[in-house]
Amino acid sequence: MPRDATLLWGLRSPCAFACPHCYFGTIEDHKQAPPTEIGVLSHLSRADLPPLALKAFARTLAGSPIERVVIAGGEPLDWPPTLALIELVKEAGCQVVIATNGIPLTRPPVTQRLIALGVDGVSVSLDSVDAHTNDRLRPSRSGRFGYDDVLAGVRALLDARGDRHAPRVGIYTVVMRERPQEITDMAHLAGRLGVDYYVPQPISLTPDHKLFTELTHRREDVPAVAEQLARLYNETSGLALPDPSYARRFVAAISTQESGLVPDCFGGARLFFIQPDGSVWDCPSDRRIAATPPERRRNIRDADARTLFAVRPACTNCSLFSRDCVNMWPLVLDMPQLLNAEAVR
Ligand SMILES: C[S@@+](CC[C@H](N)C(=O)[O-])C[C@H]1O[C@@H](n2cnc3c(N)ncnc32)[C@H](O)[C@@H]1O
Repeated sequence: MPRDATLLWGLRSPCAFACPHCYFGTIEDHKQAPPTEIGVLSHLSRADLPPLALKAFARTLAGSPIERVVIAGGEPLDWPPTLALIELVKEAGCQVVIATNGIPLTRPPVTQRLIALGVDGVSVSLDSVDAHTNDRLRPSRSGRFGYDDVLAGVRALLDARGDRHAPRVGIYTVVMRERPQEITDMAHLAGRLGVDYYVPQPISLTPDHKLFTELTHRREDVPAVAEQLARLYNETSGLALPDPSYARRFVAAISTQESGLVPDCFGGARLFFIQPDGSVWDCPSDRRIAATPPERRRNIRDADARTLFAVRPACTNCSLFSRDCVNMWPLVLDMPQLLNAEAVR
């Protein structure tokens, strides 16, 4: 069985930030109106699998097609069971990449454990080089954390790693329509910090989201974003970036609101998405999840990864494109390059 698939695993995990654009929605909105549609993420979910069930599934990853597990949330590093889960995933022979808000990296026991466990990549989210703007886009729930703490977390991990190659440390930036210049500004900041890789990704919101009009790119925003991406690839050195074809995909994605056709999609073949309730989807695209027929709905509860992913019919011509698809390409196609210590531009 070839080992070539990526698992994006969303864990139950409250986050110190309350980003109003978060894929998980906001606690405030969901307290008012808990989501009822299939596959809609929520920080308030009451149906999450217990840690024992997650660990049992992690043990079955050995010998399965899963090559890499990208752990996200919520905030995975604030949830006590996460580190033990990472240990099991590493023991199963998978690469592990963590998506984090960066704050837990300011706690030395966390960074030391990530290094000791041999975590392969740590992707830290930062949405603006300007502290005030970042903290407006990614507001702290308690008012106690923000931009300076995220930078301190990145520096702490890089310092603790020292001369070792792993984990590779990256910055992920959600690009919104008001600030295309963040694309290159953040690359410069990432270079100054000494991180290894950088991925700007377009904001993905459904048209009924209350921030859709304010934050989502429109057709008239495309030239400025395209120019920024061209500069990013022409001017960046010392930092690994997704393959240059990513810039083309990014621009194509923000040029349309339609459900375009994605030829040869890897969803369901080389990418799977696990939600905190254990449900398994071919990819995280809300359109794809909504279109999954009941007989294709699966769960990791009491399941074995070797059989769960034994049959992997690709969505060869997916007609359910969403901007979220763009954010999956680096996870599946570019991660080997981003984690490769020799691949710096
Ligand atoms: C949901 S967060 C979870 C991990 C962690 N709490 C963090 O802040 O990175 C994973 C990534 O998704 C990004 N993200 C969240 N909502 C998004 C959206 N609507 N569009 C694009 N990216 C989004 C975040 O900025 C972050 O880089």
